[in-house]
Amino acid sequence: MAKITFANTGKTYECATGKSFMEFCDESGAPHDFGCTVGSCGTCVCVVEPAGNVSPISKDEKDTVEMCTSTAGARLGCQFQVLGDIVVRPA
Ligand code: FES
Repeated sequence: MAKITFANTGKTYECATGKSFMEFCDESGAPHDFGCTVGSCGTCVCVVEPAGNVSPISKDEKDTVEMCTSTAGARLGCQFQVLGDIVVRPA
């Protein structure tokens, strides 16, 4: 299991390692907004630390992130899997 902490609330949840972050949020009611769910709208953009504890960013995800924010390390919540303990912050 991996721990997911939301920096804006300080709340921590447990998530199965390898699970989609979006699926986890759907099932747990964790406080994260999603829109299109396919990596094109940017509603779910966030910063995840450490970056190595989630699946790598794809070129398509990177293109959408760059349209939404200039924050370093930003990711789309609908596009990554949780591989270890992470902290999620607003981007
Ligand atoms: S929900 Fe639209 S990019 Fe993630």
